[in-house]
Amino acid sequence: MKVLLIGGGGREHALAWKLRQDNPQIELVVAPGNAGIAALARCVPIKAGDLDGLLSLARGERPDLTIVGPEGPLAAGIVDHFRAGGFAVFGPTMAAAQIETSKRFAKELMMRAGVPTAFASVHTTVTSAKRAVAALGTPLVVKASGLAAGKGVVVAETMTQAEWAIDTMLRDGAFGAAGSEVLVEEFMYGEELSVFGICDGERAVLMHGAQDYKRLSDGDRGPNTGGMGACAPISLDTPGMRASIERRIFEPTLAAMKEQGMPFTGLLYAGLMLTADGPKVVEFNCRFGDPETQVLLPLLESPLNDVMLAVARGESIAQVSPFVWKSGASVTTVLAAPGYPSHPRLGEVIEFPAEEVGGTDDQVYVFHAGTKEVDGKAVTAGGRVLSITAVARTVVAAAAASRGYAERVQFSGKQMRHDIGWREVQRARGAGAS
Ligand code: AMP
Ligand code: GLY
Repeated sequence: MKVLLIGGGGREHALAWKLRQDNPQIELVVAPGNAGIAALARCVPIKAGDLDGLLSLARGERPDLTIVGPEGPLAAGIVDHFRAGGFAVFGPTMAAAQIETSKRFAKELMMRAGVPTAFASVHTTVTSAKRAVAALGTPLVVKASGLAAGKGVVVAETMTQAEWAIDTMLRDGAFGAAGSEVLVEEFMYGEELSVFGICDGERAVLMHGAQDYKRLSDGDRGPNTGGMGACAPISLDTPGMRASIERRIFEPTLAAMKEQGMPFTGLLYAGLMLTADGPKVVEFNCRFGDPETQVLLPLLESPLNDVMLAVARGESIAQVSPFVWKSGASVTTVLAAPGYPSHPRLGEVIEFPAEEVGGTDDQVYVFHAGTKEVDGKAVTAGGRVLSITAVARTVVAAAAASRGYAERVQFSGKQMRHDIGWREVQRARGAGAS
C-alpha cells in the first residue's frame, strides 16, 4: 500500500510512525515532512498549502490513500480536488471542514441539532458585540469566527478585556477576514477533554479522550499556544461519560451534517468542557489534534490504516470494532523554540541525549515537529520543535519519563513545561497510585 501524508509536524510524525507500525511494508510519501519523518518515509519538499503542487505529486505517485494532517489544506478544499482527481483521501470536504473553519457555522449547527455547547451570539459590528458583552456579563469568551491559528480566542475576565478583544478583532481587523465576524460566548467551567472520532459520514469510532496543556508555562500560566503537551487516557472519561459523548455530541452532529448535505468524513475532533451539567462542546476541529495525536497513537493497539482507507474510499465503518488500547498511560512534552508562541527564533542545532539520538525505544518516542536537517544535524525549524512521548504503566511514570527525556534534549533557548499531565497525576496520587 502506498500512502501520501500531508503535513510536517509532530502529529504527522506520529501518524507516519503508526502507519508503518501497522504495516512495515507500507510505501510512505510525506509532503513536506521533517527531519524525524525522513527516517520513516520519503519526504517531498511541497508545502501543505500548495494544493496544485500536491495534486501533481499525487498524479505522479498514484497513492492508494492520502491523509491530510493540518486544517489549512482542508479549509482550501484539498479533499474536493483529490476526489475529483480520483484519489481516495482521508479528510472532510471544504463544506464539511466549516465545522472548524467557521465557529458561527459550528455554533448554529449545534444549536439546531441540540448538541450541548455554550450559549453564544454572532456579531459583525462593534456596537452589537459590546451590547452582547454587557448583557452576558463576565467572565465570557470572545472568538473570531474564522481560522486564526489558535489565537482568535480571548477569555475575558473583565469588561475592559472583552471590549479590547472586540475592538481588536472587529475595528482593527487583527485577524483579517477570520475576525470580521465574532462570537460572544458564555464561559464554561470545568476540565477540558479532546475526543477524536473517525467518521464515515454517518457514524464515528471514538478514541480515548486526551487532555491538552495549552498554556506556555508550568501551572497553566502564560499565553495560549498550539499545545505544550498532552496526556491520555483521562480517568474522568468513564464509560458513562463516553456513552454521553457519543450519544449527545457525535451522533447528533454527524446526523445534522449529513442532513445539510455535507456528511463529515475523516477525523472529527471534539474539544469538550466537562461541566457540572455534562460534556459540552468548546469547539470542533476537522483533523487530528496536535499534540493529542502524539499521546494517543502510541497507546493504540488496533490498526488505523484499514479504517482510514475505508473512510477515504467512501465505505461504511459500521462493521469496524471499537478500538483496542494498550494498558497504561501516555504523556507527551513539547519542546518549543525561544520566543514561541509569538516570535519563535529558529535555526538552532538540536542535541539529543547520546544514547538515543533522535530514535525511539519501547517507552520513549521522539516525534519531530518543527525540525529540518542541515549538514547532517537536526535544527529547529518551527515554533514547536519536538514532542517527547513516554508510555508507561502509570501516568506518574509516563509523566516523569517524558519530562526526563525532554530535559535531556538541548538547544539554545529551549522552552518546555515540567508539569504536563499534572491533572491526571494529581488524581492518580489521590487514588493512591505511585
Ligand atoms: P478554542 O480555540 O475555541 O478551542 O478556544 C481555545 C481555548 O479557550 C479552549 O481550549 C478553552 O481553554 C478556552 N475556551 C474557549 N471557549 C470557552 C468557553 N466557552 N468557556 C471556557 N473556556 C473556553
Ligand atoms: N491541540 C489543539 C489542536 O490540535 O487544535
